[in-house]
Amino acid sequence: MFKAYEIKPGIWWVGALEWNERYIHGFSMPHGSTNNAYLIMDEAVTLIDTCSEDHASELMERIADVVDPAQIAYVVSNHSEKDHAGSLREVLARAPEAKVVTSARGRDILATYLGDERELIPVKTGDELSIGSRTLQFVQTPMVHWPDNMVTYAPQDRLLFSNDAFGQFLATSERFDDEVDAGLLFQSAKKYYANIVMPYSRQTAKALASVGELDLDMIAPSHGLIWRSRIPEIMERYRAWSALEPTDSAVVVYASMYGSTARMAEAITEGFMAQGVSVRTFDLHVSDISDIMTHVMDARYVAVGSPTHNMTVLPEAGAFLAYLKGLSPKGRIGIAFGSTGWAEAGPREIASVLEQAGYTLPLNPQMTKWNDRPEDGDGIFMAISALVERVRSEG
Ligand code: FEO
Repeated sequence: MFKAYEIKPGIWWVGALEWNERYIHGFSMPHGSTNNAYLIMDEAVTLIDTCSEDHASELMERIADVVDPAQIAYVVSNHSEKDHAGSLREVLARAPEAKVVTSARGRDILATYLGDERELIPVKTGDELSIGSRTLQFVQTPMVHWPDNMVTYAPQDRLLFSNDAFGQFLATSERFDDEVDAGLLFQSAKKYYANIVMPYSRQTAKALASVGELDLDMIAPSHGLIWRSRIPEIMERYRAWSALEPTDSAVVVYASMYGSTARMAEAITEGFMAQGVSVRTFDLHVSDISDIMTHVMDARYVAVGSPTHNMTVLPEAGAFLAYLKGLSPKGRIGIAFGSTGWAEAGPREIASVLEQAGYTLPLNPQMTKWNDRPEDGDGIFMAISALVERVRSEG
């Protein structure tokens, strides 16, 4: 039933479609996901990556649509995370002669998964593997997205198997970038970058320098659509995203209990708007943290609000702060705010976490006490306006 799809002469997509996956480690996937694997039919049949364990039978059927899996000579494991290596045991069980090619770090990780029953061939940048009419080349791309990551280049096909880099979480029957809506494609690629790749932007910039010199006709990532018509655009966007240059924009994020903190969020939002700063405001009770993070990637200002609750913040704010701490770019401007009663613990905790996350906090936590009054909103509005003016004047 599951078929393979030829993406270039002799090279087949044999991945798994996760039509109904909606969540992975904090990341919402409203359009599902794809775990791409690729089969190269050459003298030595070579499989590039596998897919998650749940989809092992789908992967094996797609491979069997082209060749008896027992004929596989090499499995190249570009990345040991379970969405790409989770089916490796099943593949190797059906391909008893196959050797696994991976980075040195990948070998260490896969050894804990496979035991010592299979030969793992470590490769590094510059190493090559002849598989017949093709010679595969390997480039290490550590921390894009784990220390083990590498990419595999097939120069004869001008094809880069980029693994996580350039991926998007989209489940589609189409395989190529020019077959889907460009807005959805680039927005999905941006959300993926913000939530998966952003903390490793320095390493991504290095990796881009390595792969940017390759003669590329196609980039086949391990998630989503294959790039063939929009390669310059996605490369340019990756260069811009990995530079982590903020735009003149703000994100206001809050959780409110009885409305006071929500009204403070409105005052902050209006303060930014009055200064012409592009702003997006999110109530954490109804917003998705991975969507918010896509805006945080661009934002010069991030304002986070919660009232004091049980001497800390509301749970939704706590979850957001934990997520932000792990992902956020450094050196931006943070603003803590929230309503308080007998204790100021909530806004002060936000300020503390924002500082730990690498934000600069030029304002003291913005707080109201017991019941917010109209003049509180006016004061917050003025504080934000003055802050923006000061930041602009400082250049
Ligand atoms: Fe798609 Fe880092 O795994």
